Amino acid sequence: QELIHGRLAGYKFIVVANREPYVHRFVEDRIVHSKPASGMATALDPIMLASGGVWVGHGSGDADHAVVDEHDCIAVPPEDPKYKLRRVWLTKEDEQGFYLGFSNECLWPMSHITFTRPRFDAKDWETYRRVNELFANAVLDEAGDDPTLVFIQDYHFCLLPRLLKNSGRKNLVVAQFWHIPWPNPEVFRVCPWKEEILDGLLGNDLLGFHLRYDCRNFLEAVDRFAESRIDYERSDVVRGGATTKVSAFPISIDFEETNRLATSPQVEQAMETWKRQLQLGDRILGAGIERLDYTKGIVERLRGLDSFLSTHLDYVGKLQFVQIAVPSRSHLADYRRIEDEVDRVTDEINWKWRNGRWKPITLIKEHHDPIRMVALHRLAKFFVVSSLHDGMNLVAKEFVASRTDEQGVLILSRFTGAVRELEDALPINPFGAHEIGDAIAAAVVMSPEEQKRRMTRMREVVARNNVYRWGGKILSTLLQFELPENPANTE
Ligand code: G6P
Repeated sequence: QELIHGRLAGYKFIVVANREPYVHRFVEDRIVHSKPASGMATALDPIMLASGGVWVGHGSGDADHAVVDEHDCIAVPPEDPKYKLRRVWLTKEDEQGFYLGFSNECLWPMSHITFTRPRFDAKDWETYRRVNELFANAVLDEAGDDPTLVFIQDYHFCLLPRLLKNSGRKNLVVAQFWHIPWPNPEVFRVCPWKEEILDGLLGNDLLGFHLRYDCRNFLEAVDRFAESRIDYERSDVVRGGATTKVSAFPISIDFEETNRLATSPQVEQAMETWKRQLQLGDRILGAGIERLDYTKGIVERLRGLDSFLSTHLDYVGKLQFVQIAVPSRSHLADYRRIEDEVDRVTDEINWKWRNGRWKPITLIKEHHDPIRMVALHRLAKFFVVSSLHDGMNLVAKEFVASRTDEQGVLILSRFTGAVRELEDALPINPFGAHEIGDAIAAAVVMSPEEQKRRMTRMREVVARNNVYRWGGKILSTLLQFELPENPANTE
């Protein structure tokens, strides 16, 4: 944490992300705030709490307007303010074209290999461009004439770096982190606006991905579709006289904070509540937690559970699987389709195996606070992350960080970024239900010693590669550059 404080010396720090870290909503006549279900927001909030600065994000809650000052700002977290949140307001049409349309019907499916066809819509692209301009104006307004470090998050803002660099302000350092995978060039080439997207991203001084694999895919796309000079050794791109460094920074979580929470009395209490609600008794608990998204392989996981029961009849009635699927982007047809399918498959499997009051799957389609989630992590004998494709997957790391008892088995998709670090998880190819079934079979009989051996090693990895290290590495990489306006260089 100190590292981040130190490295920011002299710079204003602005984070830009579509999703805001705190959302305000009306509940009857009261205003309550909550944190959204977003890996990106979960990772960035602790960095901001440590560093201070401004977060520019889209005001998305129905009470967001009611709590901001005349500059659309509010200090957060509301109960103990540490940084400033500036809300940008989008119209319904903006949200449709920028967020639902171009970001989530084009860039999202194009970047994840799930065989969901991206939609290329010229009107959405125009809205996307306009909303990027809207955010550029908010950032420039916050930066004023001060030397500023702008740290942009994700695929909602491909055009923002170039807009900032073209503004004529010489003392802006711009970095961006791409939280999802970057597609291979064969996929990327079908995008009608690929040149504009690459030009926008090459406005960054530093562009970060989770994996070197993503960096390579990006550099290959640049090689094929953008006029520039690439230095593969240094992993940078020179375009129009300016350099963009392209590097891998695997993201993580606040390990200490999750540890603290995991041993708190509130979590102990929440564990008791879960046990009661689930009528768990001495049954084995398995769990999965994510947004209801077609990239997460929820249906595949349920089929895996079915496969396990079919081959291990002695576990019928003795195992319970809780699936938390937080509704997400539900105005989009592909998301409504996956929700219907999850409902249908849950029903089908429960009907097949139901025995008296027992059924194998409890599907809960709502967002839970971190206390409830960590409590579920702690109760689960095994935890399944079966994403079909995932940039990192922080839920896997949260499960590991919650297990202060060094027990529990993580079943983890080979197509997540996290699997490269968490080598002691049981790896699966989620496209084969039998592989998930076999992994569940291995998990339920794994000895406490073996669980401890694996969990201890995974905990060491997550403790070491925590989110502060991630943030620190990005910022220290940035500050190694020769920046004319870097106040630290002129001292
Ligand atoms: C992914 C993206 C984030 C996004 C999150 C939740 O993790 O990388 O940028 O915030 O999904 O999605 P949402 O569309 O609800 O923000």
